[in-house]
Amino acid sequence: MTNTPRVVNTRADLRAARAELGDDLGVVMTMGALHEGHAQLIRQARAEVTHVVVTIFLNPLQFAAGEDLSRYPRTFEDDLAICAREGVDLVFAPSPDVVYPDGEPGVRVAAGSLGAVLEGAARPGHFDGVLTVVAKLLHLVRPSRAYYGQKDAQQLLLIKRMARDLDFPVEVVAVETVREDDGLALSSRNRYLTEADREVAGCLSKALLTGAEMATIGPAAVRRAARDVLVREPLALIDYLVLVHPTELSEVPEWYRGPALLAVAGRVGTTRLIDNTPLILGPNGGARPVV
Ligand code: PAJ
Repeated sequence: MTNTPRVVNTRADLRAARAELGDDLGVVMTMGALHEGHAQLIRQARAEVTHVVVTIFLNPLQFAAGEDLSRYPRTFEDDLAICAREGVDLVFAPSPDVVYPDGEPGVRVAAGSLGAVLEGAARPGHFDGVLTVVAKLLHLVRPSRAYYGQKDAQQLLLIKRMARDLDFPVEVVAVETVREDDGLALSSRNRYLTEADREVAGCLSKALLTGAEMATIGPAAVRRAARDVLVREPLALIDYLVLVHPTELSEVPEWYRGPALLAVAGRVGTTRLIDNTPLILGPNGGARPVV
């Protein structure tokens, strides 16, 4: 399947193209700089719905001043080639003035307390910006299913919560994290890494894997094993390493048994990276596939 998908940039063109696609429709939302992680989302959508729309929009609302909006990789032609290869039906690639015709929106979706911890603590306002654009894109595209990566676990959780709390008529689907051979989670931001950074960055996924191996023992053992990997790599400046409840995002106590999320964020060189692994704590525990 190598037909170049139809590309629309305006609301009117999207509306016209959308009308031809019917209601068994999946959406994969991206900020561009597509990689195999995005491709996996598209493939899962293709397997489950009749038509797939990809949105490519670098959303200024989710970047704070001083973050990497201006240097974020823009690779539109390559993105289109990936969409063609994966059999995407329609690409919606609006400019900021199409998405925000009146400038920055005064009314936004509030992520609430789940949006204030972890990534939200490091990036205040980030998740309000994410949920606001996700809500708008869901309204514009009107998919039956929307696909998001487990890689951004807190984002995925918040989008699921928004859909439930605000009655969005969409099924939010999680897709497992795609990794390099050494475990590094694919990310558009990996393009910022120098060769030396790239070596260092491997410690994040290694810490998660090593921690998850202790899941049958208990939370302290998981945290200790993961931390021991990270301290051996002083060039990775760790922002947080947490073992939290998968939907409440609060640190799990030592007696806790059941599903949890081991998550890490840190800076390598000039690049902020995040990763996580779901796991089950307890005698029959271990790494847990995404549901
Ligand atoms: P972006 O970072 O481009 O990611 C788009 C989607 O791809 C997200 O659902 C993300 O979780 C998923 N993804 C990224 N890397 C992945 C990997 N290694 N494996 C599996 N999935 C991966 O996330 C955003 O854009 C934005 O916040 C967005 C939701 C588009 C709103 O602006």
